[in-house]
Amino acid sequence: MVQSIGTKKIKCAVLISGTGSNLKSLIQFSKKKNSPISIELIISDNFKSKGLQLGKIYKISNKVFNFKKKIVAEKKMIYEMKNKKIKLICLAGFMKILSKEFIKNFKGKILNIHPSLLPKYKGLNTHQRAILNKEKYSGCTVHFVNSKLDSGKIILQKKVRISNSDTAKSLAKKILSQEHKLYPKAIRKILNL
Ligand code: GRF
Repeated sequence: MVQSIGTKKIKCAVLISGTGSNLKSLIQFSKKKNSPISIELIISDNFKSKGLQLGKIYKISNKVFNFKKKIVAEKKMIYEMKNKKIKLICLAGFMKILSKEFIKNFKGKILNIHPSLLPKYKGLNTHQRAILNKEKYSGCTVHFVNSKLDSGKIILQKKVRISNSDTAKSLAKKILSQEHKLYPKAIRKILNL
């Protein structure tokens, strides 16, 4: 369980692979007055991840680990997290699957955001599949991470209507803007704030 004690901020790490728009919204959330979190570390599995620029802009320490050697990468991550006293890990577009061992080290402290109304459409290409199935709604979910893909306990969801003219691209855009609001809300929720 993640507990907020007094006025001390919960130290967070954010794991990314790509653009980092959710990372940006989490950074902005962390900078708000009375925010319960501070972002101390950004980790990517990809040197080309655009989100790494945000680390430079906001002066947040950032690291890139090569997941071709996953066990080594995870050991290094655990070292960094313990060193920085990280109490909450937010996956934000992180495209690698973490091992059971890694998850055990941070039980109940890893969150993920997924662009569908879980348990529907786990995995990739969620928007395309929702449209092909003629769903009326899709959305996004923040959930705890367990060892099965996109399957941990759901914290919060936001529904988004799919219109007839939506393409996977337009739907992704609509959902992404909701993701940016949902992640901070979900963090407040698990901290009982
Ligand atoms: C988001 O849609 C997130 O739900 C999914 O990957 C995308 C990451 O986008 N897991 P960004 O890198 O945060 O812009």
